[in-house]
Amino acid sequence: MLLPHKYFAIDLGTNNTLVYESKRGIIFDEPTSISFDKKRSSYFDFGLSSKNMYGKNPKHIEVLQPLSKGAIANITVAKAYIKNLIGSITRHSLLKPDIVVSVPSDLNAMERHAVIEAGKEGGARNVVLLKDPFAAAIGSLKDISYSKGIMVLDMGAGVSEITLLSCNGIVMSKSLRIAGNDLDEAIVEYFKATKRIQIGLLDAEILKKELACLDTSEEKMMQISVKNLMTRMPEYCTISSNDITKAVLPLIDRVVTLVYTLLSQLPASFANDIYDNGILLTGGSSLLKGFDTYLSQKLDIVTHIVDTPLQNIILGTGRVMEDKQYSSLLSK
Ligand SMILES: Nc1ncnc2c1ncn2[C@@H]1O[C@H](COP(=O)(O)OP(=O)(O)OP(=O)(O)O)[C@@H](O)[C@H]1O
Ligand SMILES: [Mg+2]
Repeated sequence: MLLPHKYFAIDLGTNNTLVYESKRGIIFDEPTSISFDKKRSSYFDFGLSSKNMYGKNPKHIEVLQPLSKGAIANITVAKAYIKNLIGSITRHSLLKPDIVVSVPSDLNAMERHAVIEAGKEGGARNVVLLKDPFAAAIGSLKDISYSKGIMVLDMGAGVSEITLLSCNGIVMSKSLRIAGNDLDEAIVEYFKATKRIQIGLLDAEILKKELACLDTSEEKMMQISVKNLMTRMPEYCTISSNDITKAVLPLIDRVVTLVYTLLSQLPASFANDIYDNGILLTGGSSLLKGFDTYLSQKLDIVTHIVDTPLQNIILGTGRVMEDKQYSSLLSK
């Protein structure tokens, strides 16, 4: 009996990897993380359980992120990560799967090649790439092939990318290597500089999700444990939403400027489409409270957050993989 060939779509993000299996849907949604045991010179864990070790790992264990700012940062680590991923989703079947990987549209040829190489050496038979903005639009709209312009802002963990799509192609695109992880780092730096306290990066991410708010000045508080940089001792500290918002705002304004730059360079023929349809917001960082309203007010344009910003790209990539009408969007 001939075994059916396996097809997978993969959204290989800086922080999160999602996998979609043809005809089954999303089968994997975990952090892009892998752990290395220096004593045994081997990788031994990946995904959520690897990320959970971050910050608590003994010296001989390294918790590694294969991607940085949307691109492969270390090809050896990336190959090991993809090998583990493919091994777990194919349950070590002997048949090599075909994979479609969605990537930021501004990756250069070397960065794109690194993804393909990592996929093949990680155990795939064929690897094709899909640019994130296509996946984002197809993941949330019925049809992107008509001649109306569609503007998509994908703000993930490592990259913010604004793209104008029309007639199944990219008309213009601009990106900035600033996104959710930089907001977390900005929060850490803000409290070091203004309050002389050290906040852990994972706590900074929680504070960002819970307290940052760009459209109201309603004050919320949260208590966390920090390190006092004067006494070097741990202590509890109450953090206010005003401080968190102040910490992230300069970076958010850079994303607003990125969108403004693209809008200001729009060919006039697209002006009506964009002012009628607005901008689609996707990627986990588009969930930052009040970001949609803030962007809308700053640029006087309508914004819509897609239904599932953290899963939208994998749903679009899965659709592209399953529907032949989109095959022209795939590239090697
Ligand atoms: N409710 C929320 N509020 C603010 N930020 C959020 C929220 N939920 C998730 N995020 C942020 O979204 C980011 C993860 O988004 P996503 O999974 O789209 O990124 P990624 O695909 O891994 O990265 P990239 O596409 O940049 O390579 C993280 O920085 C996370 O802190
Ligand atoms: Mg992403």
